Amino acid sequence: MISAATTHSLRLVILFVWVGTSSSWLMGQGISTTQFFLYGKQHFTKTGYLKHAAKYAANEALDKADLSGKVFVVTGANSGIGHEMAKFLFRQKGRVYMVCRDSSRAENARADVLSGWSAGQGEESAAAEKRLVTVIADCSLRSDILKVAETIGRMEPGGVDALVCNAGALLEKRAVTQEGHETTFACHLLYGAYGLAKVMEPSLRACAAHGGAPRCIFVTSGGMYNTKWPKWEIGSSSSAADGGNTPKC
Ligand SMILES: NC(=O)c1ccc[n+]([C@@H]2O[C@H](COP(=O)([O-])OP(=O)(O)OC[C@H]3O[C@@H](n4cnc5c(N)ncnc54)[C@H](OP(=O)(O)O)[C@@H]3O)[C@@H](O)[C@H]2O)c1
Repeated sequence: MISAATTHSLRLVILFVWVGTSSSWLMGQGISTTQFFLYGKQHFTKTGYLKHAAKYAANEALDKADLSGKVFVVTGANSGIGHEMAKFLFRQKGRVYMVCRDSSRAENARADVLSGWSAGQGEESAAAEKRLVTVIADCSLRSDILKVAETIGRMEPGGVDALVCNAGALLEKRAVTQEGHETTFACHLLYGAYGLAKVMEPSLRACAAHGGAPRCIFVTSGGMYNTKWPKWEIGSSSSAADGGNTPKC
């Protein structure tokens, strides 16, 4: 028997294919949307998660990981994936910098992470609190990511073991930052990922110089495969008048 969900899915597929036949551009978009939809239904969304989670073995290595002395920077750490990451890294005794754009959301999130700390693990509460630091910065702004790199570089002369560029927002309406760049592009790519990694490079190199194995992790989305990158001037909000110059990092 075909379920209502399957019928709905088939209708959507037919719609995409039908749309795809109306012109060659639409056909290309229709095909990639259909592929993305079918693949995504299997591997992402709640269905994908439940399917894969059923196969996860209990991972003792993660629970036993000792991150004492290691330094982590997580952007967008006040909710979602970033917040869960901050909780995990802190619980395993890492020193964690939570980069958030709003100070009250940052403090609430920090309190939530701290609430998971429990006495009796050979660490004083005050020492544990010192391992969890909030840094207020909007990752879509060049001025802010420069401050992040400067602050953390000063506080961690021994370097940073891992930078996790996770902050992101997919806005329904086009918005431009006060520095003049389309917000999603600025936050996900230009400053929140490429720019931040670039300005944090000295901290990552300092970690390597102290015998560490630094890394930079980008949290991104398969959704990008589903749509064409627009013209550079449009995607980046750089002006055609200046030759569509790459914004500064
Ligand atoms: N969850 C998914 O299914 C999924 C799928 C594909 C990709 N992703 C990517 O995974 C990452 C995390 O997603 P999530 O689901 O955990 O989302 P989420 O719960 O909405 O968390 C996003 C975090 O990023 C922060 N943020 C947004 N814009 C920022 C900015 N300009 N500067 C600093 N922080 C900013 C948000 O802070 P505020 O609270 O201040 O807004 C929030 O803490 C994102 O990059 C997202 O695109 C997620």
